Amino acid sequence: RLLIIDFGSQVTQLIARRLRELDVYCEIHPFQKVTETFLEQMAPRAIILSGGPASVMDEGSPRPPERVFEMGVPVLGICYGQQVMMQMLGGKVERGDGTAEFGRAYVTPSQTRIDLLKGWFLEEREQVWMSHGDHVAAIAPGFEIYGTSPGAPFAVTADLERRFYAVQFHPEVHHTPNGKTFFQNFIQDAGFTGDWTMAAYREEAVRQIREQVGDKQVICGLSGGVDSSVAAVLIHEAIGDQLTCVFVDHGLLRQGEADEVVTMFRDHYNIPLIHADEADLFLGELDGQSDPETKRKIIGRLFIDVFQKYANQIEGAEFLAQGTLYPDVIESVSFSGGPSVTIKSHHNVGGLPEKMGLKLIEPLRELFKDEVRALGMELGLPASFIGRHPFPGPGLAIRCPGEITREKLEILRKADAVYIDQIRKHGLYDEIWQAFVAILPVRTVGVMGDGRTYDFACALRAVTSVDGMTADYYPFTHDFLGETATRIINEVRGINRVTYDITSKPPGTIEWE
Ligand code: XMP
Repeated sequence: RLLIIDFGSQVTQLIARRLRELDVYCEIHPFQKVTETFLEQMAPRAIILSGGPASVMDEGSPRPPERVFEMGVPVLGICYGQQVMMQMLGGKVERGDGTAEFGRAYVTPSQTRIDLLKGWFLEEREQVWMSHGDHVAAIAPGFEIYGTSPGAPFAVTADLERRFYAVQFHPEVHHTPNGKTFFQNFIQDAGFTGDWTMAAYREEAVRQIREQVGDKQVICGLSGGVDSSVAAVLIHEAIGDQLTCVFVDHGLLRQGEADEVVTMFRDHYNIPLIHADEADLFLGELDGQSDPETKRKIIGRLFIDVFQKYANQIEGAEFLAQGTLYPDVIESVSFSGGPSVTIKSHHNVGGLPEKMGLKLIEPLRELFKDEVRALGMELGLPASFIGRHPFPGPGLAIRCPGEITREKLEILRKADAVYIDQIRKHGLYDEIWQAFVAILPVRTVGVMGDGRTYDFACALRAVTSVDGMTADYYPFTHDFLGETATRIINEVRGINRVTYDITSKPPGTIEWE
């Protein structure tokens, strides 16, 4: 295993991503957690010190234990990691005094070439991404310089004998185009063969689940989404009927979705499944509510109540399974400590396990989204299911701005089905991160045949994105949009006007509420 010690950089996760792409198993842990004992227990085969917002010049700035440098394993320090390494090993760091470097920079090699930079400098210089205020002023004994940039005379330094590498730039980001080669060289040096595959993960996960659960019962909340589904199938493979799934149907799902989930899990996988059909309860409480946050809160609260009610019927349950992913669990290293602004209160069941006295089981907590998809394929889930666009917990409620009525939901479901059908028929589904229809809280006048209509307007939304944090609208052709609008108006009674939402995120959000 490879250990990444996190000093709070915004891009630490990308280090893990790059390594996983090279089939190397790694874990990120915040610096506060990495003690000498922790290091002994984990016994990593290599260590990476991440970047971070602190200054090593500040009193009490974060440091790894000295032991990191005494384990005889390769250590790579990146940005803040480089500075902390230099300071601890006897070099010198100075505060930035106008020499800060942010953004694109070019590194040129020294006379001596090293393996770490194999495949680099095919051109005279190599593009990298810099983001630092402080800089190394003198390197530690044993280190040599192997690359320099105008703002960082010590851009690449290394102590080849001890296999310590320290770089000022960020090899993990996209703007260091040859970053992958860099990491490949590093892991080769550390003796990793890149043998971390999904088949191996599956086998190991099954073993661990069996060990953790023993002969106890497990409850899993199914949402119909990819994560909880993969978690459920994996757990079922490990412990069979000791698993019961609870599928909370809030009446805000897409057309045919509830049936699909029930058929797949109950009939195809033979997983014991409770279908909690509570549409009346949810829609009843949402009746007359139009404020987005109020709607979200009502759904979140009811979801927990309902889940708890059904879960209580399962005798002897001791574990609650969740499809938590790696990006959700990386403990964030916060320096400011201030609360971040709530843009939208997200739907989750945090706090539920304590309330119910259940232990958590999270078999995906080491995986990124695309790895979960790969595991799903490995477990034989249909590709069409695994490739589905994300669907939010509060469901169609947040695609129905203003008051929710059964009539509007019915219209929305039909329009959405036509839209997605169009996208699939044109072979665009996999190019798009997420696509859906929102039904607008306005009726507009139209003319159909010889008659006047007064029906709802709807908005089509389709975005491209990598992680849902930022997004761009999808550039459909006018022909596609025209054809889709015609189909929706012809096939869906209740809609007489179709618009296309061309807002990116930011400033918009993907969902309408
Ligand atoms: P926004 O609208 O915030 O959405 O740009 C970003 C991504 O998150 C999804 N989303 C949610 N997912 N519970 C979820 O599980 C929620 O409450 C929720 N709200 C938004 C949204 O569909 C998009 O993929």
